Amino acid sequence: MGPESGAAAIPDLAQRVQQLGWYHTLELAPGVVTNGMFDLRPYVGRYGLPDSLHGMRVLDVGTWDGFWAFELERRGAAEVIALDLDDERALDYPPRRRPQRFPDGRRGDGFRLAKEVLGSRVQRVVGNIYDADPGVLGTFDLVFCGMVLLHLRDQLLALERIARLCRGTLISAEEPDPSVGWLPFPAVRYRADRDAAVVFWLPSRRAWRRMMWTAGFDRVREHDRFRVPSTHGFSVRHVINHASGSVIAGQSV
Ligand SMILES: C[S@@+](CC[C@H](N)C(=O)[O-])C[C@H]1O[C@@H](n2cnc3c(N)ncnc32)[C@H](O)[C@@H]1O
Repeated sequence: MGPESGAAAIPDLAQRVQQLGWYHTLELAPGVVTNGMFDLRPYVGRYGLPDSLHGMRVLDVGTWDGFWAFELERRGAAEVIALDLDDERALDYPPRRRPQRFPDGRRGDGFRLAKEVLGSRVQRVVGNIYDADPGVLGTFDLVFCGMVLLHLRDQLLALERIARLCRGTLISAEEPDPSVGWLPFPAVRYRADRDAAVVFWLPSRRAWRRMMWTAGFDRVREHDRFRVPSTHGFSVRHVINHASGSVIAGQSV
């Protein structure tokens, strides 16, 4: 990547950055930082990413502005694919929360600007994780999936799709529900009973691990957990799991 050269080629960069809404805090150039909803920079060390991804093919599921994809590239990955949808109406949001028309809620503009400025080679693929197929995308040494599954109606189907794509390790960051975490079995809480809900089911930490196992990963272990504050005044619990040994890696339906 060549940050200076990319930023220098965009004279109105600061203005363009301000015109967009950002999910991630990204430093695009010295003094040009996006006003993201989440600044993940202080937490990167807690996810257990390998220091070097040299020569690896990696996938970032649900990339939004691309914070993790760019981080994976920075660690030397040979190829980074960043999967996401462009149209918010295609997300699993409950009907009351869905925008009525496009481009309301369009994803991808921030990613494209950041990619240009950073001089990144990350390839953004528009697609739904439910449809992700190793026959099309290939398989990956590392799959990163951060805060995506909690927004899905069918978390197990998405996990199975990831298991098919993953010939190495899945690093997963998701929100766990502590209110069902004390139960002596893997429990999931229904969370879509509010107008503004963007979460359907929230598993306990134990349930997340068992769901990854169910989806085909033989080895699943919790790596860390912590809270990440948002710039909107709330904070989100994170549990980081590492899963490997997918029994369905490379299998197309
Ligand atoms: C809460 S954001 C998390 C962004 C980033 N992964 C992170 O950890 O900071 C969820 C992202 O997943 C994407 N997403 C949601 N459902 C998806 C689906 N079915 N297929 C692909 N991407 C999806 C959203 O568009 C959004 O970019």
